[in-house]
Amino acid sequence: MTASPTSPQILDLLRERRSPSVFDPTYELSDEQLASLLEAARWSPSNGNAQPWAFVVARRGDAAHEVLVGSLSRGNSGWVPPASAVLVTAARTTPERKPALADYARYDLGQAVAHLCVQAASMGLGVHQFGGFDHEALAAAYEVPDEWSIVSGIAVGRPWPVRERSGVDPSTAERELRERHRKPFSEFAFGSRFGEPLPLHPHD
Ligand SMILES: Cc1cc2nc3c(=O)[nH]c(=O)nc-3n(C[C@H](O)[C@H](O)[C@H](O)COP(=O)(O)O)c2cc1C
Repeated sequence: MTASPTSPQILDLLRERRSPSVFDPTYELSDEQLASLLEAARWSPSNGNAQPWAFVVARRGDAAHEVLVGSLSRGNSGWVPPASAVLVTAARTTPERKPALADYARYDLGQAVAHLCVQAASMGLGVHQFGGFDHEALAAAYEVPDEWSIVSGIAVGRPWPVRERSGVDPSTAERELRERHRKPFSEFAFGSRFGEPLPLHPHD
């Protein structure tokens, strides 16, 4: 199911958010922009206020970015490198004390990233998360401590308007034309018991 004009109302920022695959290869993120994204993540809630997230920031052209590019899966190696920066995320999955917090570490990281995504959208930036890279190689290269797990990459940059593009690989450009789908409420919103669709007129 795709969002339509009759879908329930949500914030424009959320409705218009999508994962761009064509980034402006000349656009540089300022320190202020990066700080705003990290600040949005910082103020996210977390279990026990553990804040079990970390981000390695790789900016296009620097050494951390070069390592990142070398770790990308084939499917991600075309569209990720032109983005202005990639934030490589990590969750603290084995704290020495309070092991229960570790169970929520990926949950908390995901929520912090969601906040970051909304902040980015409000700033006109595009964000495209990805899991397709060699996590172990990157953990070694970035000297990530054992109690932390690398989870994802977040490509950030300026979505490149079609009228300005040149030299974009057709298969990369085609990715953005694919239809976007979502499950209907009946598959994930339940009433009375799990699996029983929630009666939610007029949207069911
Ligand atoms: C944890 C995570 C991992 C993802 N991994 C990849 C990936 O490796 N390659 C890719 O092109 N997109 C990846 N995506 C993007 C999703 O495919 C995308 O969010 C989904 O298709 C919905 O599209 P939308 O974000 O435009 O709504 C990933 C997203 C998340 C949240």
